Amino acid sequence: MISLDRALFVLLLGVLLQAILQLRGSGTAVWRSNVAAELALADTLLEHRPDEGDALLLAAFETLEVRKRLVEGQIAQHDAMPWFQRALYDTSSFQAHADWLKSWRQEWSERLAAKPAGTLPRRAKSTKSPSGGLQSAVEVAQDAIKGAAGDWKAAGMDVVLDEVINLMDAEADNAFVLSRSCESLRYMAVDDESRSAVGNSIPVILRAMVLNENSSEVQGYCSGTLVHLAAAPATRSAIIENDGVEAILRGMRLHPGNSFVHLKACAALANLAATSREQKLLMTKGTGQEVLQSLKTHLHDLSVLEYCLGAFHNLATYSENQATLRSLGALRALRDAVRLYPQHAEVQRVGTKTIRLLKGVGRDSVDKAPGDDREDREDLQAV
Ligand SMILES: *[C@@H]1O[C@H](CO)[C@@H](O)[C@H](O)[C@H]1NC(C)=O
Repeated sequence: MISLDRALFVLLLGVLLQAILQLRGSGTAVWRSNVAAELALADTLLEHRPDEGDALLLAAFETLEVRKRLVEGQIAQHDAMPWFQRALYDTSSFQAHADWLKSWRQEWSERLAAKPAGTLPRRAKSTKSPSGGLQSAVEVAQDAIKGAAGDWKAAGMDVVLDEVINLMDAEADNAFVLSRSCESLRYMAVDDESRSAVGNSIPVILRAMVLNENSSEVQGYCSGTLVHLAAAPATRSAIIENDGVEAILRGMRLHPGNSFVHLKACAALANLAATSREQKLLMTKGTGQEVLQSLKTHLHDLSVLEYCLGAFHNLATYSENQATLRSLGALRALRDAVRLYPQHAEVQRVGTKTIRLLKGVGRDSVDKAPGDDREDREDLQAV
């Protein structure tokens, strides 16, 4: 339908370059860097616009093109004004345009790389993407690295990574740069080698989350990076040792109604709660309460619910956590979730499995590999 693979990879680099430009041109207004970044990304997407196919998608591209022309026209008008007129110009409309373009990009790039409805997202094991040719952003970055004969360095990613880390260091309270940097890091961490290299950024990621606790964008995007980094033991330990769990939980508390923050946070916690030791440790830090609260608040938002259910299941796998979870009222929340989505296979499967664990009757029927009690968890890496 569309050659999205290249588009998304260029998109990643575009996001990065724009963030760096924002740093260099720190004298210029923020709206201008935001809108310039989004226009550049829109250009990239429009270059890969399909000629035929899904009518909805074609209409969306049409809207994007019209909007882009409108914004460019307004900016040209603004720039041609004498300075005194410019000073009176209400530039908040430009920020609104930037926000619109960003929503378009997020919504459509997500749909283009859509997961099949009704399944819990899992580790990207299969090489064939379920949507038939359209790849997820993660697979795209993976392919780009494969294109460089599997060599992360040859793909130039180590240089890009250093740039991002330096940038995040220099712009420690710039929420715009930090959320885009975290978004970029997420695309970069695709396999063991890249994950281990991107692991160097864990301290700056967590510092960004601490210093920008009020920015839901920073909390959501940076938790999103942690989801990927938490998929391997070494980076998982580094996150925990650098107080990553505390940072994630703080973001959840400060943004209780924000589904983006909560879905990324729950996904990260699900991956962090991989082994018994971690499941126990996470509980002592208050993860059970926070995930339960999230489950209740976002019960009607399936995207959040799926991940929080996954996190909950992993915590409940450790038998010493079960009594605490029960006393928090977990059974009732789980039953509500299961009742609310009778048609949803994964909610049913993970929900009832967790209920059985908490009631202490499911331990023998858990479908885990024989002799391996470390990997019985919902793996949510491909977020
Ligand atoms: C976040 O917002 C709260 C309430 O407005 C404020 O008290 C706090 O200082 C802010 N945190 C940061 C890091 O700016």
